[in-house]
Amino acid sequence: MHETRELKAHGHTVRVNVDPEPEREGRPALWPTVGEYPIYDRFLYATMTTDHERNQRFLAALAKLAPGRRVLDIGTGEDLLWARESVQAGARNAVAVEVIEDAFHTAAGTLAALDEHDLITLLHGESTTLQFAPKADVCVAEIIGSLAGAEGAAVVLTDARNRHLVPGGMVVPHRAVTLAAPVHLSDLLPGQPVAFAEASLPYLQSIFDWHSRPFDIRLRIENPHADALLSDGQPVEVLDFNGELRTEQRTITRLAITRAGHVDGVLTWLNLWCLPDEAPLDALRMRTNWASIYFPLFDHPVPVAPGDVLELTVETALSDDGIHPDYQLAATLHTASGEEHHGSLASPHHGGPFRAHPLYQALFPTT
Ligand SMILES: C[S@@+](CC[C@H](N)C(=O)[O-])C[C@H]1O[C@@H](n2cnc3c(N)ncnc32)[C@H](O)[C@@H]1O
Repeated sequence: MHETRELKAHGHTVRVNVDPEPEREGRPALWPTVGEYPIYDRFLYATMTTDHERNQRFLAALAKLAPGRRVLDIGTGEDLLWARESVQAGARNAVAVEVIEDAFHTAAGTLAALDEHDLITLLHGESTTLQFAPKADVCVAEIIGSLAGAEGAAVVLTDARNRHLVPGGMVVPHRAVTLAAPVHLSDLLPGQPVAFAEASLPYLQSIFDWHSRPFDIRLRIENPHADALLSDGQPVEVLDFNGELRTEQRTITRLAITRAGHVDGVLTWLNLWCLPDEAPLDALRMRTNWASIYFPLFDHPVPVAPGDVLELTVETALSDDGIHPDYQLAATLHTASGEEHHGSLASPHHGGPFRAHPLYQALFPTT
């Protein structure tokens, strides 16, 4: 059973269902998505600096690309991580940019104490509004979301390629893809209530405070079981940072059901390449800070069997901040017996409805 807590959001009282079981190694847990909001704290930065799967890929790319080069680290965070690693790898110098004021000040303190401090220039602000010269040869930017483009990587890195990089300059990571497959939420949280992890509530509060009101935030599933998938995963969002990089896109994919079960939505997860020829980081099957995102599509679970097909359309369009995409999903389930079931979800970066879908009505009860 779940418990209920109250959050305050600018005069609104928001009741939230909470899982009373503490989070444990490997146990699935439900969180709000956090990466696409300016609410990073020490805990979130530490989940990244200790992410071995992620870090070994970025380090391998910097070992290859940084020596002798001028490197731009967009979103350096409070640890100046990739600017420091670039210099360690032999970069001529590095410019590190961070938009969150607290993180910038912590990074400034760290920089002052570094032996290599004269090789790193730290700037406060958003890379899309800053100007600096000379241009960089390499841009490293870990602004990749669990939903690949959710943190604004397409716009930020298009701008970096146009304004901050020399012609032919390289971007790390190389490519990020969001995959999707149909699922039943209760298969992702087996034997558990559909309720937020207690530890996630301060982040939910911060996001609602940042936006000044509650909204139907994207749902992050920690430790999902890959055997909950009802089809193979197929790409629904592709970001080629060193190729044709689209800031808005629309993908239609047909997901062939591979086992009997029920479907009420889709699970999405990240595949990431820091160098073109490597095996990608797979956020569903590897231990990493990136989680998967569950989108509810149908009001009620629909029975499915092999031979059925879920046709899924995923569209990204820039939100009113011009950087972070809104996602729009639409699905038609075609059963082998000729029935059709339709479902859809608008998932804006911020704003949009509150308690629009039955799942959100259950997560945020009014009584
Ligand atoms: C996912 S964290 C990565 C932190 C660190 N680079 C790492 O890899 O561990 C993303 C960071 O990028 C910052 N950020 C995102 N977009 C930015 C932009 N356009 N300009 C400057 N900072 C940005 C965020 O505030 C956040 O600190």
